[in-house]
Amino acid sequence: MTDLKRYIRDVPDFPQKGIVFRDIAPLLREHFAPTIDALGALLPAERWQSIDAVAGIESRGFILAAALAMQHGKGFVPIRKKGKLPPPVVDRPYALEYGSGVLEMQRGNGTLVLVDDVLATGGTLRAAADLCTDAGYEVAGLIALIDLKLIPRFEWRGQVAVSVIEYV
Ligand code: PRP
Ligand code: ADE
Repeated sequence: MTDLKRYIRDVPDFPQKGIVFRDIAPLLREHFAPTIDALGALLPAERWQSIDAVAGIESRGFILAAALAMQHGKGFVPIRKKGKLPPPVVDRPYALEYGSGVLEMQRGNGTLVLVDDVLATGGTLRAAADLCTDAGYEVAGLIALIDLKLIPRFEWRGQVAVSVIEYV
């Protein structure tokens, strides 16, 4: 099996001094299909059956969530940075490892699995999960391709995020 972690490039001091940016671009270019397979395998088949759609967080999360939704025959739901989705939307402020912002989403219903590329402080994933419930969805899974392990364990309302690649 391919060691997917080998294809993540470490970029020191990006996007600001002191941050080691984990660049997934080489991984997506070289091993996109196995990456999506590995994400899908994080949830057992029975869990996938009860899921209606995959929600992705703009913008790197979109790439993974859309491919995962396609692979599992599910719908795709976008969670976007403020000002991109037409109203009506619900919103939530968030803070991440190197900044802050506001996430927005359109209302809906059904069961979602929430997907992002990187789990660092967990600020983005937590706000996105809260936003999904504000918008009317039930969150049935939290998936990150990479867990940087800046926090020992990400937990949201009793659910623990699962990931393919971990930094220890
Ligand atoms: C990045 C990444 C996650 C978030 C994780 O988002 O895509 O969404 O940081 O950090 P946290 O766990 O500390 O919240 P960014 O806003 O840089 O997004 P993009 O490059 O995908 O647009
Ligand atoms: N998102 C938050 N922290 C990150 C990091 N260190 N590398 C890539 N994406 C990130």
